Amino acid sequence: MLENLTALPADKILALMAKYKEDPRTDKVDLGVGVYKDASGNTPVMRAVKEAERRILADQSSKAYTGLAGDPAFGDAMRELVLADSVAADRVAAVATPGGTGAIRQALELIKMAAPEATVWLSNPTWPNHPSIIKYLGMKMAEYRYFDEETRGVDFDGLLADLDTVAKGDVVLLHGCCHNPTGANLSAEQMTQVIEKLKSKGAVPLVDIAYQGFGDGLDADAQATRQIASSFDNVLIAASCSKNFGIYRERTGILMAIAKDPEQKALAQQTLAFLNRQNYSFPPDHGARVVTTILNDAALRADWEAELEETRNGMLALRQQLADELKRLTNSDRFAFLADHRGMFSRLGTTPEKVEKLRAEHGIYMVGDSRMNIAGLNAKTVPLLAQAIVDAEV
Ligand code: LMR
Repeated sequence: MLENLTALPADKILALMAKYKEDPRTDKVDLGVGVYKDASGNTPVMRAVKEAERRILADQSSKAYTGLAGDPAFGDAMRELVLADSVAADRVAAVATPGGTGAIRQALELIKMAAPEATVWLSNPTWPNHPSIIKYLGMKMAEYRYFDEETRGVDFDGLLADLDTVAKGDVVLLHGCCHNPTGANLSAEQMTQVIEKLKSKGAVPLVDIAYQGFGDGLDADAQATRQIASSFDNVLIAASCSKNFGIYRERTGILMAIAKDPEQKALAQQTLAFLNRQNYSFPPDHGARVVTTILNDAALRADWEAELEETRNGMLALRQQLADELKRLTNSDRFAFLADHRGMFSRLGTTPEKVEKLRAEHGIYMVGDSRMNIAGLNAKTVPLLAQAIVDAEV
């Protein structure tokens, strides 16, 4: 049987992680996978997470199953964090999932059940696992223009023109904030226009929000998602806790399905629970319990928010430092976009050959499409990167 298997294309982000690990250079710089690193290169356990885990260890009296949708308290806490009061609770079905990827996968499975003929539209570019899962599930897929290679901002005219060709009932995947891989985001006004366009087309939005709190703040980053949630009868929202709670390996995420009314919500809730049962039965609980403990305790929540703000501001400072350094070295504003981008990533906008040159000659690792993880930098490596960018004639 196994002889029938054929080699699969490697995930480019994970392949880069492996390559970095093998590199013996001690001064190598990892700007690959989207994992936050502090100034000393560590990915710390957040203070509130440690405390929540301590409490869970002390107080938890059973490891019996929770529910197929996960602990309802997690669903409530996440709905409040992501959606606030933008949509009535009795319209929101929700299931805990293994990470944001699990939520995306379950969202696509739900689409496949409810609208098997729908095309799923992705920004070009998008997170590589989006098209990979869609292809794996045998679903129809299309792309809308997103990134302007010249300005390194959003190609808004191209985006609107492409969304104009969306058919009724198609699903359009939007990044809630902190676009991955480009770092270029829609303004509030542009998002309003996108919402109007999608409404006029009868499309269904699928929002992937994996970096809430990494861009302009927890509420600001959720603004677009909330506006979308309140504008349509049906919206799917995949949210991840991996990054903003720093609990990557705990695999903690949620899929929310906004229904037209409570009756439709009940149907969606039952279907989501069914999909969990088919794919992995009960979702992981530990990370979800940590998140719930933090969000439902005023002091822990305040401490988490404070640490997340430190993280966010640290990334903004690195962005500014890199843009300033490149301005100084090139005597131009060509790289000013680095300070305007938001989230963990920026797409530098250069060729795979130059990305390879940066890796081979300077030990700087970024994804082949020139996506850099800004959180992989520190005050000392920013000038090295800036000089290497200039040397490579990016
Ligand atoms: C990334 O984009 O680097 C992260 O979301 C990690 C992953 O799973 O790809």
